[in-house]
Amino acid sequence: MYFDYMSSTPVHPDVSKCMLEYLSSPIYFANPDSPHGLGSSCRVRFDELSSQFLTLLGAPDAQVVWTSGATESINLALKGAAKQYHRAGKHIITWKTEHSATLDTLSSLEKDGFSVTMLPVLPDGMIDIALLDQSIRSDTILVSITHVHNELGCIQDIDAIARLCYARGVLIHVDCAQTLGKAPVNLSPFITYASFSAHKCNGPKGVGALLMLDANRPLQKQMHGGLQQNNKRAGTIPLFLIAGFVRSIELTLAHYSAQMAKYEHFSSYCKEKLHPSILWNGTVSQRTPVNVNLMMPSSVDLARLDDLKQQYSLSSHAACNPYATSHVLTAIGRSSDEQKRCLRISFGLQTTEDCVVTLVDAINDLVA
Ligand SMILES: Cc1ncc(COP(=O)(O)O)c(C=O)c1O
Repeated sequence: MYFDYMSSTPVHPDVSKCMLEYLSSPIYFANPDSPHGLGSSCRVRFDELSSQFLTLLGAPDAQVVWTSGATESINLALKGAAKQYHRAGKHIITWKTEHSATLDTLSSLEKDGFSVTMLPVLPDGMIDIALLDQSIRSDTILVSITHVHNELGCIQDIDAIARLCYARGVLIHVDCAQTLGKAPVNLSPFITYASFSAHKCNGPKGVGALLMLDANRPLQKQMHGGLQQNNKRAGTIPLFLIAGFVRSIELTLAHYSAQMAKYEHFSSYCKEKLHPSILWNGTVSQRTPVNVNLMMPSSVDLARLDDLKQQYSLSSHAACNPYATSHVLTAIGRSSDEQKRCLRISFGLQTTEDCVVTLVDAINDLVA
């Protein structure tokens, strides 16, 4: 059984079918930037897919830059904005619980002379907006925050954060890698950049997007080479991956309400049936029902817990972190010993009620 949908999801069969049509097409193999007829047909399709993506996300006037995934989108947004706007200031604000794609990118910017403030989060993983307000300085140019947290499942109030940034004249990047299918996509008009990833919503790995809400705002390109994508990201455009990503978003949004009702039910079942000695990590009220993050009591047998993780494809934290501890769990106050007893569970399209009942029984058995 698989309960690690926040780390990746299987490609939806309709998405595979859509991509295969592109891969076997006698037209869509061509290069959308080629000046001939086949190239123009690909360009027309590319423009249609880009508009479809923007419309699906409710931002028809924005600009999209297609990337290889959210990691690249985050690199482009943070380094691109920092290098574009460094004359206005060199201070950037983020939080200790951000994904390594953000933290590592910002530490590389620190080596280039930028100064980064890493704010703490509240014990439930939510951010303190008043603290953000106090931390903005006259040289602050950029804030970066995750919408739906990949480990804790917290959903931040992006509109309030983005409004504050706008009022204080600061750009804001939102990491939306986990947003699609896990929370409503109400992109605040005050957001500057938003990063997305296809493989978190039943699309293929290897494609993502950076949404630039103000289509005319300059951003320094980070992937150098050709002049593709309005000179924002060099490299030949992979039409089949983009088509697969757009199809996966269409499917995710079309089935959103039904899927969320299913996940709400699973999450409530966990709250009701899990042994009371098991604690929850992260907020209980402002979280996506896709994610359950638990801390087992100190009496749990760690060897049996490791077996359970193997059997149900569970993790204690993000897959991109090879270390035994998680900077996220540390930031919410979990000691390294406690982190050994933490479990991140996430639901997806293939999760059934039977799977959840079996998992909950298996977890409860460990504390019986
Ligand atoms: C919140 C968050 N940001 C960024 C990423 C990186 O996304 P990708 O795998 O598309 O590079 C992930 C993936 O784990 C994520 O969960």
